[in-house]
Amino acid sequence: MESRLSFIVLFIVMRISAAEVVKKNLTGTVGGSVTLPGPLLEKGYITFGGKILASVRQGEFYIDEEIYTHRLHWNKNSGNFSLTNLQRNDSGIYTLDNKGQRMISSYKLTVYDAVPTPSVIKSNVSSNSCSLMCSVDGAEETTLSWHRDEKIVKRIRSAVSLSLIVFRQDFNSSHRCVATNPAQEKTLEVDVKTSCEHNNTESRDGKDQRHHKILIGIIISIVCGVVLIPAVLIFKWNYVDQKKTTTRETQGRIRGHETRSRVY
Ligand SMILES: *[C@@H]1O[C@H](CO)[C@@H](O)[C@H](O)[C@H]1NC(C)=O
Ligand SMILES: *[C@@H]1O[C@H](CO)[C@@H](O)[C@H](O)[C@H]1NC(C)=O
Ligand SMILES: *[C@@H]1O[C@H](CO)[C@@H](O)[C@H](O)[C@H]1NC(C)=O
Ligand SMILES: *[C@@H]1O[C@H](CO)[C@@H](O)[C@H](O)[C@H]1NC(C)=O
Ligand SMILES: *[C@@H]1O[C@H](CO)[C@@H](O)[C@H](O)[C@H]1NC(C)=O
Repeated sequence: MESRLSFIVLFIVMRISAAEVVKKNLTGTVGGSVTLPGPLLEKGYITFGGKILASVRQGEFYIDEEIYTHRLHWNKNSGNFSLTNLQRNDSGIYTLDNKGQRMISSYKLTVYDAVPTPSVIKSNVSSNSCSLMCSVDGAEETTLSWHRDEKIVKRIRSAVSLSLIVFRQDFNSSHRCVATNPAQEKTLEVDVKTSCEHNNTESRDGKDQRHHKILIGIIISIVCGVVLIPAVLIFKWNYVDQKKTTTRETQGRIRGHETRSRVY
């Protein structure tokens, strides 16, 4: 009786392993595509949420759910399926059932939003350190991390920014800010050596330039005061006043002199 029972159990186990179930997690990005590896070559079907989406019969592909007409593809040579223009609601379990070989492949697909592109700004640059702030728009499911050479030096989940202070002895190392979710990764390289030192010299240049401008301003004022004003006055005296005095000679010399004194 017991051996009969164990035979039945063994038989069931054999049946299950014969109908080989492959479980695999897949990830995708909204707008992207994913390959559901077959092979499903001669006959079988692909399901999602218990519905048959498409079938393969005698090596031909037939769409069963109309909304997949332009999104679900089948590669005749490899027997793989691909789903394009992914949306969040494509997340779920897909199965490929190969009737002929009694093979069932099951894939759990999770579709994530595209990872936002990180951006980095420098702040508080001093002669021996440089503060960097890496940030992204929208942090849902996004992990931010700072990498120095091949090491992760800082990491945070579901945050919009992550700062890092780099000291002079690390200026020569390579630095990267990486934004990831389970489906995608975006990296921003930061050349700390040039950006932080350049920033320093830039601000010094800026100060120098401001000094130059002030200096030029002073020189122009002096030039104006020393050269231009007397020149104008001399011009006025020579041409305008003398014209006046000549035309108003009858008004007498004293009055003309007074006018000149007032101008000075
Ligand atoms: C798939 O992901 C789940 C968690 O979502 C995990 O428990 C499981 O082990 C993963 N399976 C494979 C085959 O990686
Ligand atoms: C089909 O899927 C297999 C398994 O993932 C993969 O090795 C192969 O490159 C795929 N073929 C094509 C054409 O995508
Ligand atoms: C996903 O949602 C869109 C509307 O946003 C809908 O048209 C489409 O049929 C849905 N897909 C699935 C597989 O439910
Ligand atoms: C700037 O950096 C210096 C030294 O690295 C630190 O003492 C100071 O608190 C920092 N200031 C700000 C505003 O972060
Ligand atoms: C960084 O590299 C430059 C040459 O590229 C070198 O002169 C400097 O000493 C290096 N600094 C450090 C801290 O290793």
